[in-house]
Amino acid sequence: MAALRLLLAGFGNVAQRFVEILADRQDYSGLAGFDVQVVAITTGSHGAWSVPVGLEPASILEEYRAQGRLPDKIDTLNAVRTLDYDVLVELSPLNIARKGEPAISHVREALLRGRHVVSANKGPVAWAYRELQDLARAKGVRFLHEATVMDGAPIFNLGRHCLRGNKILRLDGILNSTSNVVLCEMERGLSLPEAVKKAQAMGIAEADPSADLAGWDAAVKLTALANALMEADLTPERIDRHSIEHITMEELVSALSRGRRIKMVCEAERVDGTVRGSVTIHELPREHPFARMEGAGSVLRLHTDLLGKLVIAEDEPDLSTTAYGVIIDLMNLADR
Ligand SMILES: NC(=O)c1ccc[n+]([C@@H]2O[C@H](COP(=O)([O-])OP(=O)(O)OC[C@H]3O[C@@H](n4cnc5c(N)ncnc54)[C@H](OP(=O)(O)O)[C@@H]3O)[C@@H](O)[C@H]2O)c1
Repeated sequence: MAALRLLLAGFGNVAQRFVEILADRQDYSGLAGFDVQVVAITTGSHGAWSVPVGLEPASILEEYRAQGRLPDKIDTLNAVRTLDYDVLVELSPLNIARKGEPAISHVREALLRGRHVVSANKGPVAWAYRELQDLARAKGVRFLHEATVMDGAPIFNLGRHCLRGNKILRLDGILNSTSNVVLCEMERGLSLPEAVKKAQAMGIAEADPSADLAGWDAAVKLTALANALMEADLTPERIDRHSIEHITMEELVSALSRGRRIKMVCEAERVDGTVRGSVTIHELPREHPFARMEGAGSVLRLHTDLLGKLVIAEDEPDLSTTAYGVIIDLMNLADR
């Protein structure tokens, strides 16, 4: 099979780590035969680059690092509509205020043109999942999104392939790294602002951590999981969402002294034929699988009708983990 030709929408942390892995492909024996070519890249305000015969991964990184931008000027929607590529890899930022746009439009336009889409951006899965999957099916292409939740941990592939025949009745877990790091640091005696500063210094919390602390990021991830694994038609606004901003260090330390930990827990459950979701603050016994989760890790428990309960934990994720989520989707496309 010929190499898959990729259009990368976004050239931030994840995209650069993905291109670094491509540049060092020979160091990863599992990637022998992983045949992709980056033919175009777009960004928000740092230029773009389109070379129909394919860009050399090492030169992309060299150019970007030397110039601080890419040499061309192409708007993403225009690139998606007009350039020649096989797969749109959607790596632009999640925009909660715009309910997943402009990424949803990027994905829709690529699918309308009969191009596959691989997304690490949660927006399209949280706000437009059914529409985009129906469109992909009608066009005979695929819309894959393994990296959107728990980075590269195989959650969606597990549901799609290994859990066939099961119905997922309920799912719950800890899905937001920033809030978990902040709660863990507050247990060690830091105030909320001090814990946020520490999470920022660790490169985990954003400069503006409000969407994480208020449970928005967790609600978007929970919606993506419920839509893809439970056929829910949820949007993040319909999640019953609670913030950790009112929790004090004294409450966390007191819970610890009683053998309990306070965690931000995401839950989605089928009730009377519809799926309902919540992001709530729970005090859990220390031996609970969610209470054991430290730092930036995530944990997800699936409650199924045939296989019972399955717990998947992701420890110490980094940018390679997310880049791998993109790679496994591309490998699955190449297999077809
Ligand atoms: N970081 C992780 O570990 C992780 C894990 C799972 C999922 N994700 C998701 O993966 C995506 C990428 O994350 P990241 O950490 O790489 O983000 P990032 O470092 O903030 O980079 C975002 C990139 O997207 C570009 N961009 C902005 N608007 C765009 C548009 N309209 N069209 C094309 N590109 C646009 C930005 O360009 P400018 O700088 O010029 O604006 C930048 O190059 C996000 O949706 C994120 O939620 C990330």
